[in-house]
Amino acid sequence: MHSPKILAFAGSTRKDSYNKKLLKIAVAGAQEAGAAVTVVDFIDLPMPIFNEDLEASEGMPANALKFKQLMVAHHGFLIASPEYNSSITALLKNSIDWASRSVSKDEKPLVAFTGKIAALMSASPGGLGGIRSLVTVRAMLENIGVMVLPAQRSIVKAHEAFNADGSLKSDADQAAVKSLGKSLAEIISKLHP
Ligand code: FNR
Repeated sequence: MHSPKILAFAGSTRKDSYNKKLLKIAVAGAQEAGAAVTVVDFIDLPMPIFNEDLEASEGMPANALKFKQLMVAHHGFLIASPEYNSSITALLKNSIDWASRSVSKDEKPLVAFTGKIAALMSASPGGLGGIRSLVTVRAMLENIGVMVLPAQRSIVKAHEAFNADGSLKSDADQAAVKSLGKSLAEIISKLHP
């Protein structure tokens, strides 16, 4: 059997991002379950704000194309989504918008998304842990052909939630986030034996 291939990314480029930290835990869970995981930090793939005129005149920017090709090359996604003003970050939305575009007339629409599987998580210093962003991410992904796992986890008071080694202080949260990675790897293995 091939290893499930998972692409992991967070909707924050902040150096000390809680969502990037959270993502690492889920990534470890997926790797322990046998997945080959590629982690993307959007700080390494800066993209302009999507603009159809820019797309028409210059095509897809190189970093957007890189991200889209990475999505195409993986079976599923681990996504950690911060919450800005009760919704998702512009960074995450913009990256997904670029990746949703076809690069030629011959290419099927939404090749980076159709038939993929995703698991979601969020972290915020607030009392809701960013869960409102996940409502938006889930709806958006499902509308573009991604099957999103029912299980998800939102970490409240994220500024107090992590140990120095990057693990979560709450054993229940740590286990739940790891299990997101594991479940995603297992489901991909079943669907792509
Ligand atoms: C926030 N933050 C925030 N948090 C939240 O729980 N609900 C919200 O609606 C918002 N809104 C919001 C708007 C803007 C513009 C900023 C910059 C921040 C706080 C946010 O959760 C916090 O900055 C996190 O640390 C962001 O995630 P990372 O970068 O730590 O992953």
